[in-house]
Amino acid sequence: MKITIFGTGYVGLVTGTCLADVGHDVLCMDVDADKIARLEAGEIPIYEPGLESMVLANVSAGRLSFTADSAEAVAFGTLQFIAVGTPPDEDGSADLTYVLAVAETIGRHMNQYKVIVDKSTVPVGTADRVRETVTKTLEARGERLDFDVCSNPEFLKEGAAIEDFTHGARIVVGTESERVKGLMRECYAPYIRQQEKLMFMDVRAAELTKYAANAMLATKISFMNEIANLAERLGADVEQVRRGIGSDPRIGYQFIYPGCGYGGSCFPKDVQALARTAADVDYRAELLTAVESVNQRQKQTLFAKLRQAFDGDLAGKTIALWGLSFKPNTDDMRDAPSRTLMEALWDAGARVQAYDPEAMRECRRIYGERDDLVLVGDRIQAVKGADALVICTEWKEFRTLDFAWLKQQLATPVVVDGRNLFEPDAVKAAGLLYFAVGRGHSL
Ligand code: UGA
Repeated sequence: MKITIFGTGYVGLVTGTCLADVGHDVLCMDVDADKIARLEAGEIPIYEPGLESMVLANVSAGRLSFTADSAEAVAFGTLQFIAVGTPPDEDGSADLTYVLAVAETIGRHMNQYKVIVDKSTVPVGTADRVRETVTKTLEARGERLDFDVCSNPEFLKEGAAIEDFTHGARIVVGTESERVKGLMRECYAPYIRQQEKLMFMDVRAAELTKYAANAMLATKISFMNEIANLAERLGADVEQVRRGIGSDPRIGYQFIYPGCGYGGSCFPKDVQALARTAADVDYRAELLTAVESVNQRQKQTLFAKLRQAFDGDLAGKTIALWGLSFKPNTDDMRDAPSRTLMEALWDAGARVQAYDPEAMRECRRIYGERDDLVLVGDRIQAVKGADALVICTEWKEFRTLDFAWLKQQLATPVVVDGRNLFEPDAVKAAGLLYFAVGRGHSL
């Protein structure tokens, strides 16, 4: 099958590469000619485990190619996936400029039947707007060509995107057209041989499914963070509470890890966008608003704990920071709790000495060279000469730690753990002051 993907960002590149890997002919298009040139030279713009080798293998097999030429891209595939960004507008709603620009491009160049597949996370009603844009553009050309628009939201997690694409729980397709159902079944056939995963539904239900899924997961996290904050004040251990409630299959163990707040390109943006959509239809989405504000507050807890440990005086202190990315196995720092912490530390006159296995280049890109930010080559160097250690991301390599050694390194024996990696008793036994999330105060 011939497939065009618009947008070579995270979703577009993973989707295109995985579809090529199961034998489809895929052309990925991006308006950023530099990015296309780099991809053609084998340079992958994002860090995602397994992606680079998969891109290279499929390019050399001739199934995956790249272009910046929109006419070529539209002519290529029967399926035209839109996988461009939908950044938040000032009011929190998703900005559809890029999505509608692709719709216009398709309308301008198409000469035969196409299925336009909305892959980007877009508000309910976007498929209708894409349809209108294509129709108008065709009319302006004096053309009346047949086409369909369907919604096919993605459920990829960064760091596990290939696995999620290949073995996802479901493939949601919003369409009423039998022709589209047939084509989408053909596209995903290699993934549904073992088990039927295709779920056909109305377009609007598919669009809302994406937001509802992310908002539900974000709700679980904010709920658990709220319970952790309560546990801290009540002298209960939230880890025991987590196991206690997770064992109920109606609640489940997944996504109930308390921490320093959720980040990334999806949850913060999608929760806000859904609340905005609700406001547009005169509905006050109180739960969504609370999920967002609990998360904002949670991202500030790392700094609050440090300030408490240092009696409010962090000026001139050096803080070691382990983990910059919003979660492990990615270099993505969008809305990462590490950023909230670093910015608060800088405002308080402290210095940051940070290490992350993948996100240091990204950190440099965001913050540039500055005196109060030192990026070091490993976690050991990060604690050298530091006053305290903060763990922001649960990278595997941070999970073991010689507490006695750490005690010798730190000028003040303070460890703030935003991911509950260690047993408080073991850390405290080494003479360290340990601030985890919802596991009692050590001061
Ligand atoms: C999320 C969803 O999990 C995907 O299903 C969805 O496709 C994707 O958004 C998207 O819309 O594109 P992602 O943002 O990559 O994926 O990352 P997650 O693994 O879901 O983690 C999100 C944040 O929640 C991280 O900051 C993580 O540390 C935090 N989290 C997660 C917790 O604090 N506690 C948990 O128990 C789980």
